[in-house]
Amino acid sequence: MDLPRTASPLFATADPALLDVLQPLAAGAGVTAVVAGDVGEALRRWSTAPLVVVGADLVAALAAAAPARREHAHVATLGEAWQHDDLFRSAVAVGATSVVELPRSSGWLSEELADLVDPHAGRGVVIGVVGGSGGAGATTLACALGQAAGRAGPALVVDADTHGPGVDRVLGLDDLGGIHWDDLRVGAGRLSAASLREAVPRRHGVGALTWATGDTATLPASTLQEAVAAAQRGHGAVVVDLPRGPSGCVEEVVGRCDLLLVVVRPSLAGVASAVRLAAAWPRGARAGLVLRRVPRAIAPDEVAAAVGLPVLAEMGDQRGVEEAVELGLGPLRSARGPLARAVAVLLAEAADPARAA
Ligand SMILES: Nc1ncnc2c1ncn2[C@@H]1O[C@H](COP(=O)(O)OP(=O)(O)OP(=O)(O)O)[C@@H](O)[C@H]1O
Ligand SMILES: [Mg+2]
Repeated sequence: MDLPRTASPLFATADPALLDVLQPLAAGAGVTAVVAGDVGEALRRWSTAPLVVVGADLVAALAAAAPARREHAHVATLGEAWQHDDLFRSAVAVGATSVVELPRSSGWLSEELADLVDPHAGRGVVIGVVGGSGGAGATTLACALGQAAGRAGPALVVDADTHGPGVDRVLGLDDLGGIHWDDLRVGAGRLSAASLREAVPRRHGVGALTWATGDTATLPASTLQEAVAAAQRGHGAVVVDLPRGPSGCVEEVVGRCDLLLVVVRPSLAGVASAVRLAAAWPRGARAGLVLRRVPRAIAPDEVAAAVGLPVLAEMGDQRGVEEAVELGLGPLRSARGPLARAVAVLLAEAADPARAA
């Protein structure tokens, strides 16, 4: 993950009414902003501030000075943006990624500010897991990856499979309070890395984001996308249990994955299903196969050739998985055994493909 960013954000505005809204947001997020009341001062701090908010009052003048492109630049206005002539044109010219209407979007901006002081904020590794066929072991592997990663730093298992058992149940976190999908309102704006990390049920470093009991609502693509983005900013590892069936919501997430794992039972039926899944699956991520061991298994190189993906790990049956899950301990019980070995190889592969075996 990146080093923590602790520098002060820049508020480039000479509008006292706007500052009256911005300053409390910064204070609430635990950051102290530097205020630049003119273009010269704003330009001096433009490239070094971790985040810049340009007031509608200064944005046209700043645009005329053509500042260098930078990330995390936003334009803020009191009231509605359309009331200002050419605000969007100037916002684009300064390279702003958003125009924030205050106080309406205060929540969004405070989350953005809060990420600046979050010691975990950075970019965690994202691993997607999908079963090549039903019951292949994808959810079990996703949860085991989360458990192992959770020992090194905050990890999150994100449940995107509405037909699954619920990753909180598999991890033994369903007895804890915390937020679920239905708490992440659609269009609620940016979710801070810290709020997500702290709000989900979590034990021993691993958290779960899933549906509440009885909630079978479909997951909007934007909610999943937003949650994975926030999770990635606030965790060392994010593992997404992906649905096998057609689902419009996975495309964007697959694109965000550092590694996509397809768990395959190397039987005739298992491989045939995996071939069909791989053909229909969105492209984008680096992907590989995890082979479960089955009697009379098809050879790994044949499976790889048929599916068109490399074999990253083979895994014999792990004794006691179901009992451990039933006891609320999660599937990964020891550092030894086939599951733990596969998980170690896969985490190394996800973090650094060059280093993996
Ligand atoms: N590595 C493993 N060793 C032993 N048993 C396993 C292993 N992985 C999964 N299982 C068992 O196989 C069954 C199916 O596992 P799991 O729910 O993880 O599969 P899945 O691919 O997610 O299934 P679904 O298609 O329902 O999403 C469970 O009973 C689980 O305990
Ligand atoms: Mg599953």
